[in-house]
Amino acid sequence: MTDWQELDRKYMMHYINRTPLTLVRGEGSRVWDDKGREYLDFVGGWAVDSLGHCHPAVTNALAEQSRTLIQTSGQFYTIPQVRLAELLVNNSCLDKVFICNSGLEANEGAVKLARRYGSLKLNGAYEVITTLNSFHGRSLAMTAATGQAKFQEPYQPVPDGFKNVEYNNIEAIKAATTSQTCAVMLEPIQGEGGVNVPADNYLSTVRAWCDQRGILLILDEIQTGIGRTGTLFAYEQYGIEPDIMALAKGLGSGVPIGAFMAKDSASVFAPGDHGATFGGNPLTCAASYATVKFIIENDIAGNARRVGQYLTDGLKNLQKKYPFITDVRGRGLLLAIGFNSEIAQSVVMTCLEKGLLANRVKPDALRFMPPLIIGNKEVDEALDILDEALSSNAS
Ligand SMILES: Cc1ncc(COP(=O)(O)O)c(C=O)c1O
Repeated sequence: MTDWQELDRKYMMHYINRTPLTLVRGEGSRVWDDKGREYLDFVGGWAVDSLGHCHPAVTNALAEQSRTLIQTSGQFYTIPQVRLAELLVNNSCLDKVFICNSGLEANEGAVKLARRYGSLKLNGAYEVITTLNSFHGRSLAMTAATGQAKFQEPYQPVPDGFKNVEYNNIEAIKAATTSQTCAVMLEPIQGEGGVNVPADNYLSTVRAWCDQRGILLILDEIQTGIGRTGTLFAYEQYGIEPDIMALAKGLGSGVPIGAFMAKDSASVFAPGDHGATFGGNPLTCAASYATVKFIIENDIAGNARRVGQYLTDGLKNLQKKYPFITDVRGRGLLLAIGFNSEIAQSVVMTCLEKGLLANRVKPDALRFMPPLIIGNKEVDEALDILDEALSSNAS
């Protein structure tokens, strides 16, 4: 039998310590390895597989579009991207869309738009305030936006123009705002930073501050968007509207696509200001349109909210049983449990042995981001495995 992991080590750059598991197939909330073993997937491609693996809405759209038209470039009009843009605009508070290929590209474009706004309307203001423990992607600029030293240090100097301040602290944003500030950029819930949920009034106070200063609010909904937290977009739960919003991950249910959206008032690009060869590619847009349409028409966000609550309740029961669980946090199906020591990796490996894929988001925290189509039955199964894994890690 081919040793794929050995070949991976031989040919791939060693940029990540992979879990020793070679996945070859997926269906719904389950995946199979190269030895035929089945796993329940609570990692979901890092919060990407919104409709689960190989959902027929997505595979049918891909099959049909792949026989029709795959790539044209942005030089020409194409139908799938217009349909996707219309769907996103009609179901959000934003008016215009730019389609790209990944999360970092969406954020990078969002920040370029804010800087363009600053140059046209705010006397050249260019700084963007972001938060500590955030994650916005791995381009050089998004590394500077990401408020985590471990991502910035290997690449010094990172680009100028970002100030990282404490999350969930409006005073920190106020103190960092100057005449050079064009925008504040935030995740409604920090995902990679550990599933950190801010105070209920944080986003509304930031919104009010941005309004007072005439600067833009960019929400990075790359992880929280497309139903993940129980509404189509997380901002809906906070009673505010962003000026610019970045999307990716669940937008294509596994097909690589990103987008940023803006209010008409912030949509200041002129021809030539931005672009992407593959952006708006008919194949990915057809899959994304099918994904988002299915999510809206079948209230998949509502499912994420209900099943997420069921999972939260189950995790809280485990917390009663295992006092080394410090907290259960998150919304919808973006959840985490914290531990009082650094046992997350060990719990992940025990879960793996028992057939559950989970994510170590911090040395002392596990994150759960399963497909949004799961039901209580899968949650019960996951909780049983987690219970066993926790009991064997309790000592
Ligand atoms: C909130 C957020 N923004 C941006 C990104 C970067 O997305 P990508 O990995 O597609 O570049 C991520 C990825 O985890 C993310 O969670």
